Amino acid sequence: MSPNETADAHDVLRRLCVDIAREAGDFAHRSRVGLGPGARAAHDTKSSAVDPVTEFDRATEELVVERLLAERPDDSIVGEEGSNRTGTSDLTWHIDPIDGTVNFVYDLPLWCTSIGVVRDGRPVAGAVYAPVVGDMYSAAAGGGAFVGDAPIAVSGATDLATSLMATGFSYHVGSHREVQSARIARVLPRVRDIRRSGSAALDLAAVASGRVDGYFEEFINSWDVVAGVLLVVEAGGSITAFDGSELDVTAPAGVVTAAPALHQGLVALVRD
Ligand code: IPD
Ligand code: CA
Repeated sequence: MSPNETADAHDVLRRLCVDIAREAGDFAHRSRVGLGPGARAAHDTKSSAVDPVTEFDRATEELVVERLLAERPDDSIVGEEGSNRTGTSDLTWHIDPIDGTVNFVYDLPLWCTSIGVVRDGRPVAGAVYAPVVGDMYSAAAGGGAFVGDAPIAVSGATDLATSLMATGFSYHVGSHREVQSARIARVLPRVRDIRRSGSAALDLAAVASGRVDGYFEEFINSWDVVAGVLLVVEAGGSITAFDGSELDVTAPAGVVTAAPALHQGLVALVRD
C-alpha cells in the first residue's frame, strides 16, 4: 500500500472506532441515567473485592463485539469482560466497554468507552468516548489526534516542578498499592499536583489534549491503553514503559507519558 492508501485505511478504522464507541458509550450512559442520580449500580467483583463489574460493562462489551464482528469478521478481539477471539487478519481490537467502572458505579462522570486496534504490536486507530462530558477523542496512526473534529496536542510544559500529573491505582489492594503509594510519596512533593480521574483511557486522553502534563500508572492492561497511547503519540507526547524502554501496548504492565521535555525526568521520578 502507498503511504496515502495506508493513511486512508487508518482513517477508515478511526471512523469505525468513533462510530462504535459512540453507540456503545451512549448505550451505557442511557443505562446509567436510568438508575437515577447517585444510585449505586449493582455489581459483582472481579480480580478483588474492590474491582467491580456491572451488567452494563458486560452488555456494552457485547454491543461492541457484535458491531465489530459485523464490520470486521476476520479480526481478533481482546475484551476486558472476556470477549476474546482469534481471527485470521493482522488486526486485533482491544476493548474496554466502560473504563472507569468505579466512577460508573458511583455515578461520577469520568468514565468512557475505549476501543483501539493494533497491527504488528502498534496501535493504528482508536477512540475514547466519555458520554457524560461529551468528549470524543480519536486518532489514526500518521493522521493526528482529535477531540471531536479539533486537532489536539500535548502541553508545552518544560518544568516538572510546576507540572500537573495524573495517575491511577491497581485493584490489588495489597502489594501493588503499597508500591504505588510509595511512588506517590516520591512524586507528589516534586510536581504541582496529582489527579486520579478513575479512568486510564481518559488520563491518556488528558495528556494528549494538554489537560494534564503527564501520566504514569503501573499494573494496567492493553484494553486500558491501546486507544489512549495512540492519542498521545499522535498528539506529540513521549511514552514508554516504566523503565524508559519501548512500550508494548499489548502487554503494557506500566506506562509513563508526558510532554516531551518532561518525560525523562518523570521516568526517573517514578521508577523504583
Ligand atoms: C481501571 C481504570 C483506573 C485504573 C485501573 C483500571 P476499569 O479500569 O482505568 O483508572 O487506575 O488500573 O483497571 O476497571 O475501570 O475498566
Ligand atoms: Ca472496564
